[in-house]
Amino acid sequence: MVRSRLVPLAAAVLSACGAEPEVQEQGPDRADTVALAMATFDPAAFDSIAWETSDDAVDRGRLVYRISCSKCHGNAGEGDGGFVMNGDTLRPPSFVQPDWRFAEDGSGLRRQIFVGNVAGMPYWGLVGLKYRDIDAVARYVREGLRASP
Ligand code: HEC
Repeated sequence: MVRSRLVPLAAAVLSACGAEPEVQEQGPDRADTVALAMATFDPAAFDSIAWETSDDAVDRGRLVYRISCSKCHGNAGEGDGGFVMNGDTLRPPSFVQPDWRFAEDGSGLRRQIFVGNVAGMPYWGLVGLKYRDIDAVARYVREGLRASP
């Protein structure tokens, strides 16, 4: 009994470790999915998200970033992750440039993360990030990455 429950668990853990984020297709299907993400996005869902401390949010965001974003955006947010350098995806703008478009726009940033875009940014709200983790990673980008020298 115990054995038969353990085997599928081990398989799930292994496949989770080996999983690479997929580089998504461009084209009409992708545009439909981005449109669906836009229609699904509910900015009011962030209103009920509370964090014990600001550090908790940023720490959670650091983890989400490492798993879901750094392959393309780079560890420091400069747009130089491995996927970009391998030529698998277009180079994203640096998050740490002084005049970055989302520097003062937390709600726009959360929306962009949820919705993605047709040029290659994944629509995270449809493929695996809950509102809470989108909030966390947005805070990490603005209060962690941008705040560090
Ligand atoms: C598969 C590669 C890939 C992954 C993984 C990825 N992104 Fe992106 N992202 C991109 C690309 C490519 C762009 C630029 C698209 C463009 O030029 O419009 C982008 C754009 C963005 C932008 C808009 C930047 C700007 O200045 O316009 C934000 C914000 C962003 N990504 C956040 C994130 C976050 C947060 C994560 C993790 C949850 C993430 N991305 C994961 C590829 C990726």
